[in-house]
Amino acid sequence: MRARPVEENRRFARGRRMIVPLGGACAVALVAFVANSCAVSTRTIVAPPQIAGAEFVGSEACADCHENITDRFHNATHANLMAAGENAKDIGCESCHGASSLHVESGGERATVINPSRSPATCFGCHLDIRGAFSLPHAHPVTGGPLGTTTARVSCSDCHASHEGPAILGGGLAIESEADTCTGCHPAQRGPFVFEHEALREGCTVCHQPHGSVNAALLTERDSTVCMKCHFQEQTAPGTILIGGRDHTSLLARGTCFSTGCHEAVHGSQVNSSLRY
Ligand code: HEC
Ligand code: HEC
Ligand code: HEC
Ligand code: HEC
Ligand code: HEC
Ligand code: HEC
Ligand code: HEC
Repeated sequence: MRARPVEENRRFARGRRMIVPLGGACAVALVAFVANSCAVSTRTIVAPPQIAGAEFVGSEACADCHENITDRFHNATHANLMAAGENAKDIGCESCHGASSLHVESGGERATVINPSRSPATCFGCHLDIRGAFSLPHAHPVTGGPLGTTTARVSCSDCHASHEGPAILGGGLAIESEADTCTGCHPAQRGPFVFEHEALREGCTVCHQPHGSVNAALLTERDSTVCMKCHFQEQTAPGTILIGGRDHTSLLARGTCFSTGCHEAVHGSQVNSSLRY
């Protein structure tokens, strides 16, 4: 499994521009600021990642060599972290990359700065709840060592953009759907299928947790509830369970809807309209 196609999706997401009249943009920004200050207060904000012997230099120092990133950063979700002034030096680029004075002095040596794509530790520093999700029994394998000593198979940046646009790839107004991020690594679920399951039009996250879950296959619910939230049908005769117009009374006791012999092809089927295989 490779992350390359996900990169391509990201470029799609980056290609978009919101066109809002200036006055409107200011109003939106003000509302967003007020709304965000509430949202932010529910999160645990802790010290930025530390690099031995290094000091904070402030985000402006990065522009000298990384103009391609600093120029576009203003519309990134995490641009809200930025603030002006001496006291706010450590919030901005260095809240994810660590104090960077050694990096700047060395002219850009790699070992002097943190690249979170090799270790999610810096993200977890602020998003503690997400660390919890990745600690559940079934989770995407993102764990890496400090300063990226071990290579994880999946990184936060496979599904999230850090430098431009919405952090959640494919969310909101993006041309590509959120599911395209997933099928970049899971092509078997992409289709096209002769008999598609319309549920997938709502994205993968109607049935799967993106980070981690107590349930196998990262499912949102462990049993047929994952299906019944859409396929619930009012019962007309007592003692009879109808699903999709068919009597399922004796069938439900045999296992989940997606057990062997039932609807195994939950993502779509090439051969069976009832998604049996
Ligand atoms: C003097 C120029 C210069 C300045 C200033 C500079 N960088 Fe760099 N940076 C580089 C160069 C060159 C590389 C590429 C090194 C390589 O690929 O071997 C780099 C690479 C990086 C990397 C990738 C490291 C990796 O292991 O993949 C990060 C992250 C980074 N810089 C962040 C920053 C941040 C944050 C700032 C501002 C605080 C900053 N840089 C300021 C020159 C600079
Ligand atoms: C929310 C955390 C976060 C913030 C804030 C952040 N970055 Fe990054 N940065 C990342 C991640 C994750 C990667 C690796 C994956 C990627 O490229 O998206 C990265 C990679 C980099 C790289 C190396 C790869 C490349 O694309 O050249 C540089 C240089 C860099 N960042 C500079 C910056 C600068 C400059 C800023 C401030 C304007 C900044 N970053 C702000 C998370 C962040
Ligand atoms: C210094 C603290 C800090 C660090 C480090 C940080 N974040 Fe965030 N992150 C925030 C805050 C605060 C918000 C909320 C911003 C907002 O809503 O305006 C946020 C928002 C997000 C969102 C979007 C949530 C939404 O509902 O749209 C994602 C996704 C995200 N961060 C991922 C990451 C990843 C991945 C990393 C590491 C590369 C990271 N963050 C590092 C503080 C941080
Ligand atoms: C496999 C793709 C994927 C990976 C890997 C991933 N995320 Fe997410 N993340 C998502 C999706 C999709 C959402 C939107 C959730 C939804 O729509 O229900 C999300 C939502 C979020 C949010 C905002 C909503 C919330 O639950 O608070 C944060 C913060 C976040 N992710 C941080 C991270 C961090 C930090 C990492 C790395 C340790 C990471 N994510 C790795 C796909 C991913
Ligand atoms: C960067 C590649 C990558 C991306 C993007 C990605 N995944 Fe994964 N996914 C993996 C890897 C690697 C595993 C672990 C496979 C293993 O352990 O054999 C995995 C495991 C899973 C599993 C569990 C499979 C099982 O057999 O139990 C599910 C379900 C899943 N991913 C769904 C998603 C969804 C939904 C998204 C989008 C929100 C997504 N993935 C995005 C790489 C990715
Ligand atoms: C209607 C609910 C539903 C949706 C939507 C859905 N899945 Fe699944 N997925 C399941 C169920 C149920 C399983 C477990 C099947 C099993 O245990 O046999 C599963 C299993 C998986 C697995 C493990 C391998 C396998 O096929 O058993 C992967 C990977 C996966 N899904 C990825 C995705 C991706 C990517 C998307 C979005 C394109 C997606 N799923 C959308 C219900 C769904
Ligand atoms: C997000 C809503 C949603 C979820 C969740 C969902 N489905 Fe569906 N499903 C649909 C829609 C919409 C259709 C197409 C219309 C219809 O036939 O009811 C469909 C069709 C089907 C069909 C084809 C019916 C036929 O014979 O034409 C089967 C079988 C099916 N779903 C099984 C499942 C199973 C098994 C699960 C749980 C893993 C599940 N669905 C979860 C929305 C959903």
